[in-house]
Amino acid sequence: MYIDIKPTAEKITNNITSRISNLDIQPKLVAVTYKPDDSTISYLKSQQKTSRKFNIKYEIFEAISPQNIFKLLNELSKDNTVHGIFLTHPLPDVNEIEALIQINPDKDVEGRHPYNLGMLAYGNEKFPPCTAEAIIKILEDITNITGKNAVIIGRSTAVGKPLALMLLRKDRSATVTICHTKTQNLENITKNSDIVIAAAGKANLITKNMVKKNSIVIDVGINVVNNKIVGDVSKDTSEIADVTPVPGGVGKITTLLLMEHVVKSVELMLKNSNK
Ligand SMILES: NC(=O)c1ccc[n+]([C@@H]2O[C@H](COP(=O)([O-])OP(=O)(O)OC[C@H]3O[C@@H](n4cnc5c(N)ncnc54)[C@H](OP(=O)(O)O)[C@@H]3O)[C@@H](O)[C@H]2O)c1
Repeated sequence: MYIDIKPTAEKITNNITSRISNLDIQPKLVAVTYKPDDSTISYLKSQQKTSRKFNIKYEIFEAISPQNIFKLLNELSKDNTVHGIFLTHPLPDVNEIEALIQINPDKDVEGRHPYNLGMLAYGNEKFPPCTAEAIIKILEDITNITGKNAVIIGRSTAVGKPLALMLLRKDRSATVTICHTKTQNLENITKNSDIVIAAAGKANLITKNMVKKNSIVIDVGINVVNNKIVGDVSKDTSEIADVTPVPGGVGKITTLLLMEHVVKSVELMLKNSNK
């Protein structure tokens, strides 16, 4: 079966709409990119569409060189009209940490600045990374995570690692395994898991014979195959497990949460300026 993410999306949408109506300034999100790949372009288009829906100002800056990324991030961090900065990933030829530390942590709505990731490790984050948070929201709406065996396929700093920290938090307490390209016998691990999270960026990596009956499979992958977007999980997996769709699954919730973080950034800014 495919998991219906509409109830999760509706809850977040209503929350954003109500909070925006209490603001007397228009939130602004900017995206900074460099040599964007197909999945990045698709994500940016979805951000643009969603921000329009909430009347959030949105602008994309395409850097012309790695040096130019640092300059842009620096300037946008100081710009009082900008409330959220999204830096795309992957960034070819760029030292990502050097780029991320140019972002003001208060505007790091993706939660990728080392300060915000550090706070996540302490369970006290301002902005959890949106994709990891989207996965948690979907899971919490359909199951009780506590005590479940969860496997994450992918150990990136953008998705896999923060998600592991969030699943381990004491109020969730999943038992977490993280897999990567050097993992032996992936199938043995996925078959014994209650929750499988596929975040590898490899079409059809997870197939029906690799998962347990009635398990939950969260498909994070965004792969462009024959001009179509597909995830990391084969279609037939949904015959025995509950699977999130791609497109219109994790990606949709991720984009909504990014908007929610921009609203939160404005709220915090206004609160600080009233102190
Ligand atoms: N839906 C959303 O909102 C959203 C958001 C962000 C990303 N994504 C998508 O999610 C996917 C992952 O993104 P990312 O940024 O985390 O990618 P990434 O930085 O390329 O990391 C991919 C991870 O998957 C592992 N991996 C790759 N092939 C594997 C295999 N055959 N078996 C086991 N592990 C494998 C890699 O292992 P090694 O470390 O050993 O190389 C790496 O840890 C991409 O398709 C991306 O487009 C979706």
